[in-house]
Amino acid sequence: MKIENVKERIKELRQKIRKHNRLYYIAGSPKISDREYDRLYRKLKEIEEERPEYITADSPTQRVGGKPLNEFKNYTHTVPMLSLDNTYSRDEIVDWEKKISKKVEIEEGFIVEEKLDGIGLSLVFRSGNLDIAATRGDGYTGDEITANIKPQRGIPLKLSGRNIPGLIEIRGEVFIRKSEFKRINERRRFEGKKTFANPRNTCAGTLKLLDPEKSSKRQLNAYFYAVGAVKDGSLPSSQEDILERFTGWGLPVNKNYRHCRDIGEIKESYEYFKEKREDLDYEIDGIVIKVSSRKEQNILGSTAKSPRWAIAYKFEAEGNISVVKEIKFNVSRTGKITPVAKLEPVKVGGVEISSATLYNFDYVREMGIKPGDRVEVKRGGDVIPKITSIVKHSSSGEPVRPPDKCPSCGLLIQQDPGGVYYRCVNINCPAQLMSSLVHYAGADALDIDGLGESVARQLTEGKYVKKLGDIYELTKDDLMELELFGEKRSKNLVKAIGNSGDCRLDKFIYALGIRQVGTHAAEILAEKYESIENFLDAGYKEIEEIDEIGPVTAEFIIKYIKSNAGLIRDMLSKGVKPAYRRSKDFLGGVKIVITGKLEKFTRKEATDAVKKMGGRTVSSVSPKTDILVRGENPGSKLQQAWDKRVKIISEEDFINMIGENS
Ligand code: IVH
Repeated sequence: MKIENVKERIKELRQKIRKHNRLYYIAGSPKISDREYDRLYRKLKEIEEERPEYITADSPTQRVGGKPLNEFKNYTHTVPMLSLDNTYSRDEIVDWEKKISKKVEIEEGFIVEEKLDGIGLSLVFRSGNLDIAATRGDGYTGDEITANIKPQRGIPLKLSGRNIPGLIEIRGEVFIRKSEFKRINERRRFEGKKTFANPRNTCAGTLKLLDPEKSSKRQLNAYFYAVGAVKDGSLPSSQEDILERFTGWGLPVNKNYRHCRDIGEIKESYEYFKEKREDLDYEIDGIVIKVSSRKEQNILGSTAKSPRWAIAYKFEAEGNISVVKEIKFNVSRTGKITPVAKLEPVKVGGVEISSATLYNFDYVREMGIKPGDRVEVKRGGDVIPKITSIVKHSSSGEPVRPPDKCPSCGLLIQQDPGGVYYRCVNINCPAQLMSSLVHYAGADALDIDGLGESVARQLTEGKYVKKLGDIYELTKDDLMELELFGEKRSKNLVKAIGNSGDCRLDKFIYALGIRQVGTHAAEILAEKYESIENFLDAGYKEIEEIDEIGPVTAEFIIKYIKSNAGLIRDMLSKGVKPAYRRSKDFLGGVKIVITGKLEKFTRKEATDAVKKMGGRTVSSVSPKTDILVRGENPGSKLQQAWDKRVKIISEEDFINMIGENS
């Protein structure tokens, strides 16, 4: 390629990647698949590797690759990051409004924003380029966490658009979405690690990781809402316009704000946000009321701690009081025994709660919780209810100790070496089998419709299923003996179980529920072994040497294979056929229509390339078509694709998509 072409191509790829970052992380409406995104990214990386002289700090490829740090440097904010006065009381809000109205006539009203429950963040942009990211710290000096912020694709490395000052400190809040928090905890639970208490702690913990590679595995989000120092440039005159300008620069901004003319509208907004709170995918703990006009803000000024022109009006914590009826022990898929408090039913945040996790026996001991205690119950970020404090200990009741025997199978349990967990190590334990079955049938595993927890419980407790493979021998008549199972439902489940046998190798490996083997590790193992037989023959050393699989996981895998190879072979003999799909197969059944003349391919070449990648070319556009490739002089299919909302791509996009394999 000529130099001009290379430069153009780099520019174009960067623009595309930035655009898709914005669509995905800021607008929340991705327009291309992750695979297509990866393709763009890899292409750019490849060209930059060939032409390192064209790499710039703001290139999307420069987000990753930071080395682990020994410690964070301090960063002193040019303009301090003040905190906010806050209150839970409506009267105090009324007083605040009266007080400031005496000092200045509030002509342009107020803006009411959500008070995000995250971690304060300051970004310093020089000539529009992200230079430094720092935490709030004590307001004057924070930690410089640039390396942990740069990989986060929702945060721009470069401001776009107009009116960008030479230097600007942009303030906001970084947080973890509830859905992401849930994902992180599910994974940790799976890996046998302690789960995080709430999204805010998880976010703080992520920012404090010294290895940017590790922190980049968790998705952080941010909303920006304020400005610190500004040099060589100016800002608009109201808070709304500042938010608007941020948006124009490509910064993520929380659009859920309301303009209020007076205290009446502020009160109404408080109720509005309180009501909406549950529906949000991020946590807020109140609202922030700000005088909108910057001129009026300046007249009011700040104390050493907080601005006089803003105040936080916080929501009461949503807890409720209940009584512990008894403490039971749950047995998980991996045999882990978790204490659970059974409660007198109470409503928390609109949902009836009758049990709460107590995490582990250390937690139980530290809390000193026992049956009869009056406790405060809250819902944590991932909706699992928890007991936050003991209001009053019961005068009777015995402290709870770990059981000696498994509550499900009655065999002796063991304490993890050095760990806080107790486990049942009987692989035939019905409670473990029940959870294994739920996992096996789960959406990320073999996705067996109709095999949820209650069915799994009946199957294992009723001894219809004594080992995983037994499900492949269940008959319609067996199932009809279960609660609420009629002819049709039984037939459907037998069919769904039968169909699940034709599965992908990685899904099957994941479905087995080997400790520490999540979806990603399962994919790596499938890629390495290509068949279940090879996997069953694997040795420790070989597994341990696989990139991304550590010695502990390798040991879990080997232990699992040793005890369960027979069980798996039994499943194979019953018709389970896990098959490995090469990564080349990555168009996996995608239906493509080509219209018009392609410049670089004959029709046949294009069709073959799609086939080779596992996709299919079809001749007419239907709502089931995934992609239309638009060549020169396209026919009526183009219009049809528009009408049917089929994704339309150019020949160049097509080449990118099928990549170097074409
Ligand atoms: S404005 C000078 N707006 O709350 C103005 N702060 O308790 C300073 N916060 O340190 C902040 N959401 O980390 C502002 N919409 C919002 C906010 C917000 C959350 C945080 C921020 C601040 C803390 C004060």
